[in-house]
Amino acid sequence: MRTRVAIIGAGPAGLLLAHLLHQFGIESVVVEQHTRDHVAGRVRAGVLETVTVDLLARIGLDERLRKEGLVHTGTNISCDDETFRIDFADLTGGASVVVYGQSEVMADLNAAADSRGLDIRYGCDDVALHELDSDHPKVTFTRLGETERIDCDFVAGCDGYHGVSRASIPSHALQTFEKVYPFGWLGVLADVPPAADELIYASHDRGFALASMRSLTRSRYYIQCSLADRLEDWSDARFWDELTLRLGVHAGARVIRGPSFEKSIAPLRSFVAEPMRWGRLFLAGDAAHIVPPTGAKGLNLAATDVIMLAEALAEVILEGRTSGVDHYSARALARVWKAERFSWWFTKLTHRFPETSGIDRRLQAAELDYIRSSRAAQTVLAENYVGLPLTP
Ligand code: FAD
Ligand code: DHB
Repeated sequence: MRTRVAIIGAGPAGLLLAHLLHQFGIESVVVEQHTRDHVAGRVRAGVLETVTVDLLARIGLDERLRKEGLVHTGTNISCDDETFRIDFADLTGGASVVVYGQSEVMADLNAAADSRGLDIRYGCDDVALHELDSDHPKVTFTRLGETERIDCDFVAGCDGYHGVSRASIPSHALQTFEKVYPFGWLGVLADVPPAADELIYASHDRGFALASMRSLTRSRYYIQCSLADRLEDWSDARFWDELTLRLGVHAGARVIRGPSFEKSIAPLRSFVAEPMRWGRLFLAGDAAHIVPPTGAKGLNLAATDVIMLAEALAEVILEGRTSGVDHYSARALARVWKAERFSWWFTKLTHRFPETSGIDRRLQAAELDYIRSSRAAQTVLAENYVGLPLTP
């Protein structure tokens, strides 16, 4: 079969791109390895920047988000037993973020994909990309025992960190940058009211903790854990005890405990592949870059890549102008690297590193105290947290 753009991966990047292209009147086919329930059910990000909310509005998918999303105009930072608030709205001229889970975004994207008749093929095995450096790339895969082939003009690699797209670029054409952190995040979901009205990022002597939420009745909590830890090591009781300690006396006392219904451990990594293009293949989202989750940038970066990629593809497909696709990688990477920097900095500021000595902890505490007392330092944090503007 033939289409304009073959999109690999039906995660947030792939589905957002399919919707944006549809709005431009450009047809695409999305090829996904897993089932729809598997992709949509993954519990991941929870905080949307204004650019991501605006993108959902642009594709007509912000109705439920406006009703159910929680607008946060600030966040709390805690160091041992001291907590202070970063007032985004005051520091950035009115900006805020919206707490709305990635699984809700996926539900909205999928429901609209059905009603708009987008072509999304789930359960595709052995996905392979061919002739990417020609003007007639192809994608092959097997599904329900049949081999299928898509001929297209462009391929969008939206298949995450472990996908086939980045791996299809010859190594001489790609430069990668990576930092693996010596700890993970243990995340828990529980149907209990959140400990505070807004998020709390806690830097504690025993390690990092984050109090987040999905709604006023559902809490999402994380604590830094050892990479050697297994889920069986963390009973609910042990998790709640550790979380409560790390959030400090005041917030800790407000944690409401309950049975967890999701528990997982995620490793932390900073990773960037340059350039985000090879021939007619364009990478977007986690396929091109990973941030450690501190600061909630992963999903938002996927969304901003996709805005730039959709506009570039529309320009070349509808108007025959190649400047957008030619500049896509440089334009996207300029924003990606700033989010990488922020996520790395926020991780370094708030986590305990195994090699951390007494002086490192004192330096972290001094920097947190400086942020608490300096409007300039708070403004830097707030501007980056709510999301930098799209690069021109
Ligand atoms: P993905 O969501 O990874 O989607 C890629 C899709 O491609 C998947 O559906 C996959 O099945 C499919 N695919 C892979 N290989 C192939 C193939 N060969 N052929 C076809 N399809 C393929 N971000 C935050 O902001 N906050 C968080 O708290 C947070 N927590 C996270 C926890 C975990 C465990 C992980 C892994 C990520 C987390 N992230 C978080 C990051 C955020 O979820 C990602 O940045 C976001 O999902 C990126 O979207 P994406 O579409 O680029 O990639
Ligand atoms: C969530 C995850 C993050 O990484 C973060 O910085 C804030 C919130 C969340 O899952 O709610």
